[in-house]
Amino acid sequence: MSNVTFEGVSKRFGAVAALDSLDLAVESGEFVSLLGPSGSGKTTTLNLLAGLLDADDGTIRIDGRDVTPLPPDKRDIAMVFQNYALYPHMTVFENIAFPLRARRPRPPEAEIERRVDRVAGTLGIGDLLARYPKEISGGQQQRVALGRAMIRDPKVFLLDEPLSNLDARLRIRMRHDLKALHNEIKSTIVYVTHDQAEAMTLSSRIAVFNKGKLQQFGTPDEIYNRPVNAFVANFVGDRETNFIDGSLAARDAGLSFTSGGLELHLARPVPRAAGGAGPARIGLRPEAIVPTDGIGRNVAEAEVVQTELAGPELFFYARLAGGVEVGSRCAPSLGLVKGQAVRLRFDEARIHIFEPATGVCISHGGSAT
Ligand SMILES: Nc1ncnc2c1ncn2[C@@H]1O[C@H](COP(=O)(O)OP(=O)(O)O)[C@@H](O)[C@H]1O
Ligand SMILES: [Mg+2]
Repeated sequence: MSNVTFEGVSKRFGAVAALDSLDLAVESGEFVSLLGPSGSGKTTTLNLLAGLLDADDGTIRIDGRDVTPLPPDKRDIAMVFQNYALYPHMTVFENIAFPLRARRPRPPEAEIERRVDRVAGTLGIGDLLARYPKEISGGQQQRVALGRAMIRDPKVFLLDEPLSNLDARLRIRMRHDLKALHNEIKSTIVYVTHDQAEAMTLSSRIAVFNKGKLQQFGTPDEIYNRPVNAFVANFVGDRETNFIDGSLAARDAGLSFTSGGLELHLARPVPRAAGGAGPARIGLRPEAIVPTDGIGRNVAEAEVVQTELAGPELFFYARLAGGVEVGSRCAPSLGLVKGQAVRLRFDEARIHIFEPATGVCISHGGSAT
């Protein structure tokens, strides 16, 4: 197990700043995901760590040792790619054994067999060792690729979108298996994905990237419930965050936010960073807007404009009296239908306030649930 640090690491390709002054510290045994949209610099970060790319600036350390000038084979890292390219003419056994056989001096055959058996056992593919890649499923092939990485017992595993060639169900199954595997082997893993659900479920911490810049590094709970800016709030989550533009004013030892006909009262001071009263944007997740029978504080009248039944939940869009449209979710048993009038309660503990010009979050809700 090893820790990894990036200190001011940058990489340009011509005019493109693929990675802009990255500072990141991955602790020993952590499962860290690099999450972001396509082109945000995730693979560049991984390739820099692996030594497949040279940094323009900055220092990369593994266990405190500066590895920035070292070639890939001196870094003691194993990488698993999206297209995990097994050798088709080799059996599963030979594929997994390959990195050991390539070693000089080559380990004794008995040791190779023992290590392949152990890794295959950990991955649950012990009965497939005699087969060829084309004779096993996609998920099993992915496990063989993992086995080929594990056999070297590296300091750090790097995985670049390893599940993206698998179908949706199998991805979820493999996600579960990867997490169990990490619990067992407890290696340091740096995992690239553009899939926020994958990052949320697998990681001890998530590094969110956009346009070559690290936006936030935190636990899944912090990333989901305390986003540092509008990009993170919107990128993470299976549905878009609702953003509403309006204005803030001090009121009754708290603040009020108004937008069209909507008026919300929050029991917190006007954030100083907002420069007092004035324009602001609030953001809240669909589940922070809840259908209610009640009336009173932070309840608004709305009309359901669209519904989507998604198995265990009903997702719906509603238009508030002032014209603002929001997305929300509820139990299908509520039986909401298009055109229906509905009252919505805005959960003040889950309302974040953003600076409209920069998107920086200047006030989080009090609750992390
Ligand atoms: N070898 C390269 N040559 C030129 N541009 C590159 C190269 N590799 C990556 N880029 C650019 O750098 C940016 C980050 O790419 P990448 O790290 O692959 O993103 P991600 O893995 O997040 O999708 C993108 O704009 C991409 O087009
Ligand atoms: Mg990539």
